[in-house]
Amino acid sequence: MKMLFAVLAVGLLACGSKKSGDPGTGTGSASGTPAVQVELPSTLPQNPLPKLILADDPKRAEKVALGNALFFDKRLSGANDLSCYDCHKNEDGNGGHDPLAIGSGGKKLPRHSPVIWNVAYWNNAFYWDGRAKTLEDNVKGAWGGGNMGGAPGDAKPEEVVAALDKRAAELAAVAGYKKLFEAAYPGTPIKAEHAIGAISEYMRTMICNDTKFDRFAGGDKAALSDAEKRGLDVFMMPSKGNCLLCHTAPHFSAMGKEGGAYFNVGIGIKDAAGADLPADKVDIGRMKVSKTEADWAAFKVPSLRNVSKSAPYFHDGSVAKLEDAVKLMAGGGITNKNKFALLEDRKLSAAELSDLVAFLGALECPNKLDPPKDMP
Ligand code: HEC
Ligand code: HEC
Repeated sequence: MKMLFAVLAVGLLACGSKKSGDPGTGTGSASGTPAVQVELPSTLPQNPLPKLILADDPKRAEKVALGNALFFDKRLSGANDLSCYDCHKNEDGNGGHDPLAIGSGGKKLPRHSPVIWNVAYWNNAFYWDGRAKTLEDNVKGAWGGGNMGGAPGDAKPEEVVAALDKRAAELAAVAGYKKLFEAAYPGTPIKAEHAIGAISEYMRTMICNDTKFDRFAGGDKAALSDAEKRGLDVFMMPSKGNCLLCHTAPHFSAMGKEGGAYFNVGIGIKDAAGADLPADKVDIGRMKVSKTEADWAAFKVPSLRNVSKSAPYFHDGSVAKLEDAVKLMAGGGITNKNKFALLEDRKLSAAELSDLVAFLGALECPNKLDPPKDMP
């Protein structure tokens, strides 16, 4: 049965055609044919998070220690006012606090900060539109672009690198950092790429694999409450929430698959009164990267790990409460000219919606990020 669910999810994503046959929920059909007993997903084994496999690096621990300090250091930013952590804080589930992020120097940014747990697993697809292929490219973008303002907004690519090289060399000259850089990159003149490499290695330690769901998947059947188990069933069953179609377990995201997957669910297209926003006010999302019309206003499928802590929601932070975000998704998103056809109103009951929210709470990561004991 587990195979069947997997095949259905992959098949639907791959062909993008009409909804496939529905295995039902375990009750008999209205026509009086005998009940087909279908096993509920909560009674079946669940996929645990695979172990992260990284290439050998004898200096990994030293790079992680350096990256940890840099991640928490406001001196990385253009105006010395923001650290990476400032937009990815523990109390926000390590996603953002402001609906739309506010960058160094008070610069307004177009998108909401996503949760950054398990980014080490993302497969050639970072950011809401997947424009960065590697974590290193992502970190370079975060540092050199508007988030951290490491380079002036109008800088050309080579000027960005020069500005970041300069900042890295300045930091490497600070007494506390000198030791850390020397340990991670012995005998190397320090450039931006070294700071970027260290932050990326630190980010690869941000592993969320001990949620209640993970313990359940690992065999501890008591790890989920009854409501959470019912919510898991609603989440996974094609006849119910069908959330698994896009939020694939165990990442509860599509970014673990090569290149990621992007869908238009209708966010950021209409104003509060339900009227279409002018075309130039719509963030076209993935289309900017892929240049294909089919990707107009499509965004990545975000991970739902830590989602109960990471309000507000969606790429524009437009929904404040998890209950409302779940209702919106289960209701089939917001209708618009390019909405993904398979995203339909699931017609869930209030009890099923509440169970779904309970299940999402079981994806809460027990982890948090801390600065090193001796910040340079
Ligand atoms: C001003 C707030 C802000 C700061 C500071 C900031 N970020 Fe972010 N971060 C964001 C926003 C907003 C996005 C999404 C941008 C987009 O998709 O276009 C993001 C996205 C990311 C992602 C992509 C996650 C994914 O799932 O694809 C990573 C990784 C990340 N940031 C790491 C960092 C690092 C490392 C730093 C420091 C060098 C940093 N951030 C600094 C706001 C911030
Ligand atoms: C067609 C694919 C698809 C399906 C099916 C789907 N989602 Fe999503 N989900 C997305 C995409 C894409 C986004 C981000 C949209 C955006 O921000 O523009 C998203 C965002 C979310 C968010 C906000 C997360 C955050 O961090 O901002 C929640 C919560 C969510 N979905 C829950 C669900 C639930 C619950 C279901 C099942 C009822 C579901 N989704 C079904 C694609 C899907």
